[in-house]
Amino acid sequence: MLMRLQKFLAEANVASRRKSEEIILEGRVKVNGEVIKSLGTKVESEKDVVFVDNKEVKIEENLIYVILNKPLNCVTTVKDQFGRKSVLDYVSEIKERIYPVGRLDYDTSGLLILTNDGELTFKLTHPKHYVEKTYIARVDKLPKEKELERFRNGLLIDGKMTSKAKIRVIDKKSFILEIKIYEGRNRQVRKMCAEIGANVKELKRIKIGNLELGNLKSGQYRKLSESEVKYLKSLG
Ligand code: URA
Repeated sequence: MLMRLQKFLAEANVASRRKSEEIILEGRVKVNGEVIKSLGTKVESEKDVVFVDNKEVKIEENLIYVILNKPLNCVTTVKDQFGRKSVLDYVSEIKERIYPVGRLDYDTSGLLILTNDGELTFKLTHPKHYVEKTYIARVDKLPKEKELERFRNGLLIDGKMTSKAKIRVIDKKSFILEIKIYEGRNRQVRKMCAEIGANVKELKRIKIGNLELGNLKSGQYRKLSESEVKYLKSLG
């Protein structure tokens, strides 16, 4: 298929389209052996040979979409400098190279999507798309209504306001909260909770949009159905 170079790079999982444009302008991309710095360039995805930083990149033909119940104590990065277990260890039967969509902390469990569909990855993780992510958090102290309201209206974390969020107490005795956020900033739920005086003790993601973790056990994965993939593509 004939497409713009930046679209090719995004679909090949190199980076978002915008970041790919920067990579092109930096002169890091070669097409058929020639450095290309112009954003208008088109490539034939099945024919042209594209290198980024002297490594060949390709669009994966066979698109795979997986949902994993991420266990605690594993990283979402592909490689870890401390040699810790990675989410990829749980999907090692899948032969295609797939990548996590966004991040969950080492000490967060729950719903994680993995795919080799770069377009979908960038759609679901780009802040402008406001995809709803639902978490269950156990905290060390029940926040007062006034604090919950502050949480809902957005809070200052790392010097920047969060967008509006949802929070409700689902178990008063055990200090369990249901939280919905629409961004994916670093340790966002933990930082937002800390900001209202409640430290997160346990955190699990149970939904992305309407896609639910369901009864997948910790460490188990399954492929998404066609209608689930279609639904995810409709988000964003
Ligand atoms: N917010 C967090 O604080 N951690 C996660 O892993 C996900 C969202």
